[in-house]
Amino acid sequence: MNLIDQLAVTYREKFGHTPAHIARAPGRVNLLGEHVDYNDGFVLPAAIDHATYVAFSPTNARHSTLVAVDFNQQASFSPETIPSKTQADSSPLPEWALYPAGVLWTLLEENLPILSMNAVYASNIPRGSGLSSSASVEMAFMIAWQTLGRWTLPPMRRALLGQKAENKYVGVNCGIMDQFASACGVEDNILLLDCRSLEWETASLPKDVAIVIADTTIRRKLTSGEYNKRRAACEEAVRLLKEDLPDIKALRDVSMDEFSHLSAKLSKKVKKRARHVVEEIERSKQALPLLKTGDIQNFGRLMNECHISLRDLYEVSCPELDVMARIAQSLDGCYGARLTGAGFGGCTVNLVALEQAEQFAQALATGYESETGFHPEIYITRASNGAELLK
Ligand code: GLA
Repeated sequence: MNLIDQLAVTYREKFGHTPAHIARAPGRVNLLGEHVDYNDGFVLPAAIDHATYVAFSPTNARHSTLVAVDFNQQASFSPETIPSKTQADSSPLPEWALYPAGVLWTLLEENLPILSMNAVYASNIPRGSGLSSSASVEMAFMIAWQTLGRWTLPPMRRALLGQKAENKYVGVNCGIMDQFASACGVEDNILLLDCRSLEWETASLPKDVAIVIADTTIRRKLTSGEYNKRRAACEEAVRLLKEDLPDIKALRDVSMDEFSHLSAKLSKKVKKRARHVVEEIERSKQALPLLKTGDIQNFGRLMNECHISLRDLYEVSCPELDVMARIAQSLDGCYGARLTGAGFGGCTVNLVALEQAEQFAQALATGYESETGFHPEIYITRASNGAELLK
């Protein structure tokens, strides 16, 4: 049985009728521009064919009741319980429920009409793997509440509200990339977003190139604070560089030249973090024309450089991600391989010649398992459309 049929069955068992609607919102993989979205940089993600699905119907109850199949748990909340992050019975919301509850919180702040819902949801995006399972939950519930409230917000606006929910309600200081990719994805296309102007365009990969995602199965939690520390280091760098460059607003405004002249005033750690960002923004600028002209060889080289920078300067890799990237880069048909997403575990993204992709995936799995003892999951993925109502 596929995930959607399974959800409908669980919904019927729980609520006694067929769900009125089903929404879907994808995860994402990022090809280049890592840890630059919150520095006003450029990112090149794609929505993927793994997604979160929500089966839902309106209810007259004051509370919305949500069943999370992946956690085998249920939670309920209403506009009255949202500010205290509690449920109908005053117990605290479980962590997974903070994401849909956070979405409701932002929509209430916008004064949008909200109807309560009964919902069952599940995802085939591995959690904590760097593929934006959280953003996909937010974007799926955004579609659900939009459907019931009979209003329509443009996809970018939904993405921004999802980011606000995660920043202000869940407490993770993420940038806009994940919600953007989940909301705005375009089938078979890479998205190119300027995180300052929020202008974006798409570019397709050559037909003979596949995106392969390799999951190390190592999990570290994003909310653990390391992510927020990286972001704080970038802010510290801007504060200090401003003494000489008063017009800068973000690391995006610092050229490589300026950085090498002025970086001596930063502490060793802040200097490493900021250098990654300045160079990665430069790499993503170079990547754009390469992608447009189909120069995947050089695009892949930038991906490999990005991994080294994330490992040595930004320090968000881990031994298993390094093994996965190293083996991939040594295999036939691989243009580039690097960790994707926030890091600290999770997945690598690989660009691979399509006709060698199956062989590549097998050799990578075997090599990784024999070196680390962990059995990886490898997906040959397709870029998919953004969040949508299926029914
Ligand atoms: C997480 C965040 C994004 C982005 C990436 C790193 O996925 O949610 O906003 O910062 O990490 O590029």
